[in-house]
Amino acid sequence: TGHVTLDVGFVNTAACSSAITYIDGDAGVLRYRGYPIDELAEHASFLETSYLLIYGELPTQDELAAFDERIRRHTLLHEDLTGFFSGFPRDAHPMAVLSSAVSALSTFYQDSLDPFDPEQVEISTVRLLAKVPTIAAYAYKKSIGQPFLYPDNRLDLTENFLRLTFGVPPEPYEPDPAMVRALDMLFVLHADHEQNCSTSTVRLVGSSNANMFASVSAGINALFGPLHGGANEAVLQMLGRIQAEGGDVDAFVRRVKDKEPGVKLMGFGHRVYKNYDPRAAIVKRTADEVLGKLGAQDQLLDIAMRLEEVALADDYFVSRKLYPNVDFYTGLIYKAMGFPPKMFTVLFALGRLPGWIAQWREMINDPATKIGRPRQVYVGETERHVTAIGER
Ligand code: CMC
Repeated sequence: TGHVTLDVGFVNTAACSSAITYIDGDAGVLRYRGYPIDELAEHASFLETSYLLIYGELPTQDELAAFDERIRRHTLLHEDLTGFFSGFPRDAHPMAVLSSAVSALSTFYQDSLDPFDPEQVEISTVRLLAKVPTIAAYAYKKSIGQPFLYPDNRLDLTENFLRLTFGVPPEPYEPDPAMVRALDMLFVLHADHEQNCSTSTVRLVGSSNANMFASVSAGINALFGPLHGGANEAVLQMLGRIQAEGGDVDAFVRRVKDKEPGVKLMGFGHRVYKNYDPRAAIVKRTADEVLGKLGAQDQLLDIAMRLEEVALADDYFVSRKLYPNVDFYTGLIYKAMGFPPKMFTVLFALGRLPGWIAQWREMINDPATKIGRPRQVYVGETERHVTAIGER
């Protein structure tokens, strides 16, 4: 069977070529299609960034307007899909609801599942970008027992999502412009991150020629885990626990260093970044600002900053090159915006969606793509023989 290399966790193995995202983990550099992440965060909207990732170039004014228009036309969910939400238990995790509903899109759009028909891929792209925010908001509404609102297509993607999430009829919902801008920027920061666990999942599922909805739904499930997107929810739980135990940051860091089972400094460390995560640097700057603007003082921010300070001065973290990652401060901002912790990873999914789509499309269009099929190193029994059940 030829030579097989063992690489648990794909630490050194590239599974594809990609022209979408560049990371230099040692220098703390992240670029989408060549553009530095901080420039995009400052100058480009989430919609522009989505266009950039998917089509390769920043849109002109006209291209953006056409893209926006196409997406706005598809924000509504089929009423039968809306009916799905009532079938889930009220305390269901919204990530599980999100992946289920995205998977169900394959049942509603059977006319557009061919991965090799560019028009079908295009309409699936637009449907995903438009409907996933609506699905995410409904997952939230379901969890708190409030009525679903229909999308208002006079609003842009991010405003619409905020209204669907926080709007309660009959009052008109007026999103705070600072909140809209901050959330939109956080989506930009999450929009792609090359071959992370969820994106690799999207590609692997897609490499069997499964459709885009099925592939993205699998990616959402991969993101759910606490070592990946679930970390933003886990960070807030960790900060809350430290606060409840009297705010002793040093004691918590000691437990992390002692490697107490299940105790990690959540929101720290990264497979690729061995330096400050450039996204975390932007989020940290934003956290203070946004919390100030929203008038939300949070003791947990203080605990987080002290935790970072203690960790960055400690040899355990320094020698392992463990720095805050994107998830360390995002939860505090989401909390200040009014989202419950269960929604944090859903917000990550909304941000990552254009990246998954762009990577899936790149994979399908790459003539070098083959079905993903890792090898293994077999360590089980050598050949043995079956005896009758009474003789075992
Ligand atoms: N707290 C304490 N120790 C850590 C941490 C942490 N957060 N992260 C890594 N280490 C230690 C680890 O125990 C190991 O120590 P040793 O050499 O003594 O065995 C060393 O650092 C190397 O870590 P690793 O587990 O081999 O690194 P990895 O590349 O396999 O894992 C990671 C990367 C992100 C899963 C890990 O750092 C981690 O679990 N972090 C906490 C969860 C988290 O914040 N995840 C979000 C990642 S960023 C955005 C995203 O993808 O969602």
